[in-house]
Amino acid sequence: MPILEVSNIKKKFDNNEIIKGISFSMEEGQAISIIGSSGSGKTTLLRCLNFLERPDEGIITVRGERLFDASAPIDKPDVLREKRLHFGMVFQQFNLFPQYTALENVTLAPSLLSDGKDNTEIIKTGKELLDQMGLSDRMSNYPHQLSGGQQQRVAIARALALKPDILCFDEPTSALDPELTGEVLRVIRELADKKTTMIIVTHEMAFARDVADEVIFMDDGVILEKGPAKEVINNPTKERTRQFLSSLNK
Ligand SMILES: Nc1ncnc2c1ncn2[C@@H]1O[C@H](COP(=O)(O)OP(=O)(O)OP(=O)(O)O)[C@@H](O)[C@H]1O
Ligand SMILES: [Mg+2]
Repeated sequence: MPILEVSNIKKKFDNNEIIKGISFSMEEGQAISIIGSSGSGKTTLLRCLNFLERPDEGIITVRGERLFDASAPIDKPDVLREKRLHFGMVFQQFNLFPQYTALENVTLAPSLLSDGKDNTEIIKTGKELLDQMGLSDRMSNYPHQLSGGQQQRVAIARALALKPDILCFDEPTSALDPELTGEVLRVIRELADKKTTMIIVTHEMAFARDVADEVIFMDDGVILEKGPAKEVINNPTKERTRQFLSSLNK
């Protein structure tokens, strides 16, 4: 059974159709990269998957459970919040809580969800995740005391702390100085090696080629091409994909 099945998702803003019928599925342990020009709808697609936008049409199924069906009644906020937990989200701008330390950023949501039960296990997991991100000496720092690369690694630990089925990244390195990009890509690569199920929107083509199992090329709200990462990036079948890739190499 696929871990995720996306079926015919459509999304309009002000009568402009931005996502024009997107379908794909992925298996547990797969990493899929989404590439495509600015405005092609990559972020909107991720936001639809995380229920931050409500698609106008389509069905989203995780582990066989239909989480979203545009033709069904709208979920109550608490149901929607619960469904959102199937997806972890790492944003371009980190979005850490400035008033909390690195460790508190990671443990906050799990603590709130545990209804005041003993936090020992949550703190232990939080520390392990930060350690895994190479941040064992940074746990009590506040976001403003951390570099962009460190903040993004806290954000990744925070997303993992909720044990999502699918971890989504929206251009996780594009707000970073080039010298900080490598440390973030490295932890994402390690997650891929551990078979974390991930969807990564990225402009880093070499990274997409080497780390993702599959690449989706989006163009103007549709999936124009999807296939094994190395094939799509080294040898795309569509002229439009070729154009996009060669425009990046200029
Ligand atoms: N809330 C919104 N209201 C109106 N239009 C929107 C909204 N969100 C996105 N759009 C439009 O949808 C289109 C696709 O935007 P989106 O952010 O998904 O593209 P993208 O592929 O992520 O681009 P980039 O590579 O620049 O991040 C754009 O034309 C954008 O202006
Ligand atoms: Mg975007």
